[in-house]
Amino acid sequence: MKTLVIITHPNMAASRVNKSWLEELQKQGDFTIHELYKEYPDENIDISKEQKMLKAHDRIIFQYPLYWYSTPPLLKKWFDSVLQYGWAYGPDGSKTEGKEIGVAISTYGSEESYQPTGFNQFTLEEILRPVQALVHFISATYLPHFALSDISNLTDERLTQSSIDYIHHIKSVKPVVVG
Ligand SMILES: Cc1cc2nc3c(=O)[nH]c(=O)nc-3n(C[C@H](O)[C@H](O)[C@H](O)COP(=O)(O)O)c2cc1C
Repeated sequence: MKTLVIITHPNMAASRVNKSWLEELQKQGDFTIHELYKEYPDENIDISKEQKMLKAHDRIIFQYPLYWYSTPPLLKKWFDSVLQYGWAYGPDGSKTEGKEIGVAISTYGSEESYQPTGFNQFTLEEILRPVQALVHFISATYLPHFALSDISNLTDERLTQSSIDYIHHIKSVKPVVVG
């Protein structure tokens, strides 16, 4: 199983969570790590390079901080430009078929806030539905997400544990059973 982790953080220098997750990934050595803002500081995505990378991996994890209940803009641009008609969907568009795709997100809001009765009103599963729908649309298989929430109360111990748990998650997560 070849795993590609696509990291999209507009300001990695100021990051605490995504940087710690990245450092833990780098220690492993058995994942392909791809930082979109580092690769494309001008946001000019090399579509054929990205498509080749996708084709060469079985499991893809999109790692990013939650921005306005969505992805940072470069990841949205990546979805729009890389997952093309005739490549990822439509006639002969089967290049992503059977891939396993998941998300790893960090959120400022606490776990309690991401509940129907909490401040953010919706669960993270609900907020991630557009990504889940996209994955289904391109004939890939959606993996349960990994998250770290409540960043304002984040201790170094919880961050270290989360980074260890993240690696375990990427290696062992199983697809969501629908129905
Ligand atoms: C433009 C912007 C939008 C954000 N939107 C959300 C949001 O919708 N929900 C949330 O919980 N946190 C939101 N945040 C907080 C980030 O998700 C949080 O700072 C980040 O996950 C921390 O990870 P890091 O240490 O890797 O930067 C937002 C931050 C920014 C800058």
